Amino acid sequence: MSSLSFRHLLAAKQIGQVDIAALLKRADYYRLASNEQLLDEKPCAGKILASLFFEPSTRTRFSFESAMLKLGGQLVTLEQGAASSVKKGESLEDMGCVVSNYADIVAMRHPQIGSVDRFASGASVPVINAGDGANQHPTQALLDIYTIFCEQSRLDNLKIGIVGDLKYGRTVHSLLSLLSLYPNNSIKLISHPSLALEQEKQQPLVQAGLDLKVTSDLTSAIEDLDVLYVTRVQQERFANLDVYQQVKDLYQITPDLVANVRDNMIVMHPLPRVNEIDPAVDKLPCAKYFKQTAYGLYLRMALLSLMLNPYIA
Ligand code: NCD
Repeated sequence: MSSLSFRHLLAAKQIGQVDIAALLKRADYYRLASNEQLLDEKPCAGKILASLFFEPSTRTRFSFESAMLKLGGQLVTLEQGAASSVKKGESLEDMGCVVSNYADIVAMRHPQIGSVDRFASGASVPVINAGDGANQHPTQALLDIYTIFCEQSRLDNLKIGIVGDLKYGRTVHSLLSLLSLYPNNSIKLISHPSLALEQEKQQPLVQAGLDLKVTSDLTSAIEDLDVLYVTRVQQERFANLDVYQQVKDLYQITPDLVANVRDNMIVMHPLPRVNEIDPAVDKLPCAKYFKQTAYGLYLRMALLSLMLNPYIA
């Protein structure tokens, strides 16, 4: 067993404060380690990561694969899951069983909600959910938490605005779950009503102590925030593209919009962005979304090394 409380990582609700503390400590270690140190240690030498992606990905797949290589491990990768035996009718459970013969750990992304759970139920090696439809993306949430901790030095007493697609944005669902672990966080959920966070997703968060406020007014909401977390409207989840066209460009972060915010406010985005952040914001000190992708590498190194090595603390 590893020092983490979970064997598979399928949803953010499996993650506790103790897990986060261990992961952040380990991520810091890798962020500050020299290449020589890593070459010396190779904590994942002899281990293979299978990365199975049935949906497009740049950051998540590359950062998992780069993390594994930096830890001295190796890869087998399926970039176009649709080209696999699933096309011949193989079930996800059977695929989990088979892939377990070829890899020591799996990172998987799939468009269907619950698909990674099904794969994991057949697998005998640990499985990480790298995004299942509009449901969960727990490793993005972990790297978001790591970014917030590095940039704001705390995970409690934060005022956070989350704007964009709160209905289909899986990163939002996972991040809110982790933020609810810490006291006195208040969240403004900023979206068009049709893309609001669903009531059944709000309830457990409120019960866990998160202060949630729903609004569609970004300009007022932004005034006293520590973090503005921006998301893309998830075009691929819309059955009707006319509806997508109506809501896709309702919010845009511009230099003018962030001109009078708190000095310490940071702008985050899981990326890719479409039109929701004006590129002119990129050079402002509040823009942390590209740095966030770099934090993601260290966090995923921490996750892989702790999931695969029981003796690392
Ligand atoms: C996100 C995802 O796939 O959910 N991207 C990512 O993993 N960094 C966000 C998105 O696609 O909008």
